[in-house]
Amino acid sequence: MLPEAFLNELKYNTDIEQVISRYVQLRRRGRNLTGLCPFHSEKSPSFTVYPETQSFYCFGCGAGGDAITFLRKIENLDYMEAVRSLAERAGMAVPEGAVDDGSRQRRTRLLELNRAAARHFHQNLMSGVGQNARAYLVDRGLTRSTVVRFGIGFAPESWDDLRGHLREKGFTDEEMIAAALENPGKNGGCYDAFRNRVIFPIIDLRGNVIAFGGRNLGDKGPKYLNSGDTMVFKKSRNLFALNFAKNTKRPELILCEGYMDVVSVHQGGFDNAVATLGTALTPEQAKLISSYTKTVVLSYDSDGPGQAATRRAISVFEDTGVKVRVLSIPDAKDPDEFLKKFGPQRFELLLEGSSGAIDFEIQKLHQRFDTDSPEGRVGFLQELVRLLAGLGSPIQREVYLSKVCRELEVDKQAVALQLETALRRKKKGQEKREARELRPFTSHQLSAKTDIEKQKYPKFVLAEERLIAYLIRSPDAWDWVKTELSEGDLVSQKDREIYRVIAGRLEAGLSISLMSLSGELPEESIARLSEILASPGSENISPREAEDYIRTLKGFHTEKTSAEIGSMEEEDLRKYIASIAAKKK
Ligand code: UTP
Ligand code: MN
Repeated sequence: MLPEAFLNELKYNTDIEQVISRYVQLRRRGRNLTGLCPFHSEKSPSFTVYPETQSFYCFGCGAGGDAITFLRKIENLDYMEAVRSLAERAGMAVPEGAVDDGSRQRRTRLLELNRAAARHFHQNLMSGVGQNARAYLVDRGLTRSTVVRFGIGFAPESWDDLRGHLREKGFTDEEMIAAALENPGKNGGCYDAFRNRVIFPIIDLRGNVIAFGGRNLGDKGPKYLNSGDTMVFKKSRNLFALNFAKNTKRPELILCEGYMDVVSVHQGGFDNAVATLGTALTPEQAKLISSYTKTVVLSYDSDGPGQAATRRAISVFEDTGVKVRVLSIPDAKDPDEFLKKFGPQRFELLLEGSSGAIDFEIQKLHQRFDTDSPEGRVGFLQELVRLLAGLGSPIQREVYLSKVCRELEVDKQAVALQLETALRRKKKGQEKREARELRPFTSHQLSAKTDIEKQKYPKFVLAEERLIAYLIRSPDAWDWVKTELSEGDLVSQKDREIYRVIAGRLEAGLSISLMSLSGELPEESIARLSEILASPGSENISPREAEDYIRTLKGFHTEKTSAEIGSMEEEDLRKYIASIAAKKK
């Protein structure tokens, strides 16, 4: 835990408006500021910053929190990293040795375990048991120095090769399972998750081994196996080989589909290739890429699924500001195969000639429609209009419209008219959609649990929300609130946790600003808190209203209909019965 005095000082030296405006263009709207949410894509702003509570909340996607939460989310940092970054901006020194809260120790332990495992896999590959795997890699054209650079390893066909090794090193089964390197066995114990596979360690930006991917050498199980998420690894937030590619001198990053592609491309002299980890590109990964480069070259497989993935990736990059180019790979199914067949020089030429995202789409349309026939031309132009209507920039629309119409020798005026209609229709639909999204309390994707409780007992959940908002804004009221309300009076589990932490801090005379709370509450609770603070009507609650809300909550256990009682969770039911018993006395 960080010392309270330090957090307080940090709070006074941090302005959420300044922090966020480095990433989001904010407009003042009364007391608050709004902008386009950086965490989901939208065309009109539902992301709001509240200077008064130093919080932010997005009515579109439910993201919310304080300055620390914001930095964590947008820069993909852990709590301490975000604190450090804020402290640095404020010119403050972070107290050393004050950071251990157990979870940090566990993280460190897992990272040590991963490193030991990676070393063991690599030693396997280089020793006797790795003979066949080595032959396989040689056959695939990898050099020894590539194998060493990527720390490639081998897991033999065994249930306990890794387990035995890690045990000797002092790691427990439980830790190995937590690292996703072992699967729990039916009768206790565990067994190696990676068997008879070539292993690719996944390394984060600080050089930690955080996960593994394994290429099957036999035919049991899927071709590639990827670590599941662990305490130190989120698939959706990491990219294979970004630890190397982040240092490239090349102006772009190349995004491939698989491990082998990345390794081959690097070996071919392009140190700027990365790949997702067995899943489609996520917005978080796109964001991550956008912080390292202005241009990304999509270099997916040339087959159907690869092209579909290309299209999806293009749309994921849409709002990141990254320029997308697409590599079309002739006469090979993927970059790995292309490099092997034609060599790096040809690949360099491909890279130079890679077309823009829109050219790619137009080229696809040409493949779909026969523009020599009248029907083909109509179909082509209809799809073209749809494609161009999706572009954000009028200049781009104009450029491509002119170009295509010239090529096809069709009347540009007629197509332009259709485009206008499409744009108008699109705008209408979008306004409707966003109006729906903006309605508070319908779209937020916070804790499902609170949502259920909110639906079941809206009046009570509203009362507890208001009370929490009241306490945050008027902490002095704690002296009387605590005499009337206890944690158990709250209806939702999640709010109870929030209330417990707030109560604990107020009792200790500590600050309950969002920033001080964000060290003690999980991210989703901080998001929930900022939602509570953002809800209309929570700003000016009077002590009298607060009392009413308390009375409402006190009534929760007595005001039950039999239907409600029937659907109560066990714990609530027990409390309810106890409360009736207490009344009868
Ligand atoms: P591919 O099947 O295209 O792999 O899957 P590849 O690179 O051509 O593999 P080689 O050349 O046969 O070795 C691309 C990526 O999709 C994920 C992996 O991340 C892989 O790198 N994948 C594929 C899986 O996660 N599981 C699978 O069973 C297959
Ligand atoms: Mn391949």
